[in-house]
Amino acid sequence: MNLWKLITSNKKTLFTTPTHGQKSLFFKELSEFYKRDLSEIEGFDNLSDPKGVIRKAQFKASEIYNSAQTFFLTQGSTTGILAIMKAVIRPLDKILIARNCHKSVYSGAVITNAEVSWFMPDTKSEISKEFGVYGEISPSELENQLKLNDYRAFIMTNPTYEGVCSDIEEIARICKQYNTYLIVDEAHGSLFNFSESFPKSAIESGADFSVNSLHKNAGALNQCALLHMSKSCKGISVDDLQKSLNLFHTTSPSYPLLAVIEENINFLNSKEGLKSIDDLVLDIINFKKYFKDTRVKFLDSKMQDITKLFIKIEGMSGNRLSEILYEKYGIEDELNNDFGALFLLGVGTTKSKLDKLKVALIRILEEKIEENYIPKAKFQPPPLVKMAPCAAFYGKETFVNRENSELMISSKSIIPYPPGFGILYSGEAIQEWHMEYLDENTGVIKL
Ligand SMILES: Cc1ncc(COP(=O)(O)O)c(C=O)c1O
Repeated sequence: MNLWKLITSNKKTLFTTPTHGQKSLFFKELSEFYKRDLSEIEGFDNLSDPKGVIRKAQFKASEIYNSAQTFFLTQGSTTGILAIMKAVIRPLDKILIARNCHKSVYSGAVITNAEVSWFMPDTKSEISKEFGVYGEISPSELENQLKLNDYRAFIMTNPTYEGVCSDIEEIARICKQYNTYLIVDEAHGSLFNFSESFPKSAIESGADFSVNSLHKNAGALNQCALLHMSKSCKGISVDDLQKSLNLFHTTSPSYPLLAVIEENINFLNSKEGLKSIDDLVLDIINFKKYFKDTRVKFLDSKMQDITKLFIKIEGMSGNRLSEILYEKYGIEDELNNDFGALFLLGVGTTKSKLDKLKVALIRILEEKIEENYIPKAKFQPPPLVKMAPCAAFYGKETFVNRENSELMISSKSIIPYPPGFGILYSGEAIQEWHMEYLDENTGVIKL
């Protein structure tokens, strides 16, 4: 019995939560969803202590992902990141975080009371110069930093939003050498296990833990995600991780979402699913081929996740490209910068959708809009950390005039979204370049 069969077979009269009686009171369109919205009734197992149908589904997923344990998450990768960090990091442990990590990693540092050092990803390679995005995590620079301190964990994102991947095998080897847990936020890499056209998954490459947001590009509903723990992870058990997860996960997980997670994994691992991924990859390769030798350029890092199309048109700013696509062609990108615009593809991206983008780009090229725009890459300098995230969280706030705030400790975080990583976190000193992002009266921590 799988989760979907179970929730569609219920015939009992329920005096349990939810009391809506599987009927939609508000939106007719959600009637089918309501019909399946049950909770932990007899035979339905329990996500916090799985022994039945959920345990079986998670076990099967663990086999597919070659993990010690794969956990289903109905509140996104965010819960997975928090749970991993709480299981691994003890109060006042030193941890190293890549600066382009999602804000949930900072939240994890607050919750664990860790002392944070930041690792700056590469900004000197061609792709950074050409596209204004962060590059790889350099294994040798990482090793230099790991030598300096006894770091309990290193946390990084792979792939980045723009699809840039790092050499996780080498990074995992170095982390093991320094007894540092490697936690990889693979939220955007949910398809890595299912095609040779992608870089190897973090777990297959030797990371201790990873998360996947199935909802981002694998075909699942929002909030469906996975947490993987590696078979080679030492010192932390599957039970430790379940205990940690139970601190964060709701006690009322959505059964429709759980069923979607189970079915999504089965689909990705099926002949049909694997073929749909291969077809998608082929469509993308052909899409890119079409624009060879034109002004349309694609971000192509050494180990690129091909499903992230970061496109620029030479001579035109990315913001302008984004604007034209939106206003003239009804196409919305995920994000854009001075250089280009990012288009996220995945399970469900049809060839006709890609064709629409192709035609729009061809028209834009034909229009010969000459802007001669030359963008300049801007990256944040290393942060000046003055207080640990947890101490800053409880710090008393006072307000000063923005002009007087330089080198004071910010009480607020500034996190542009997307991509969702901070340019200033609470507890860091305000630097001159932050001024344009601050309110006139800005919050600082009273010491
Ligand atoms: C790199 C990265 N990690 C983690 C997350 C959080 O994932 P979720 O929305 O599944 O909680 C996001 C969301 O945008 C993300 O971009």
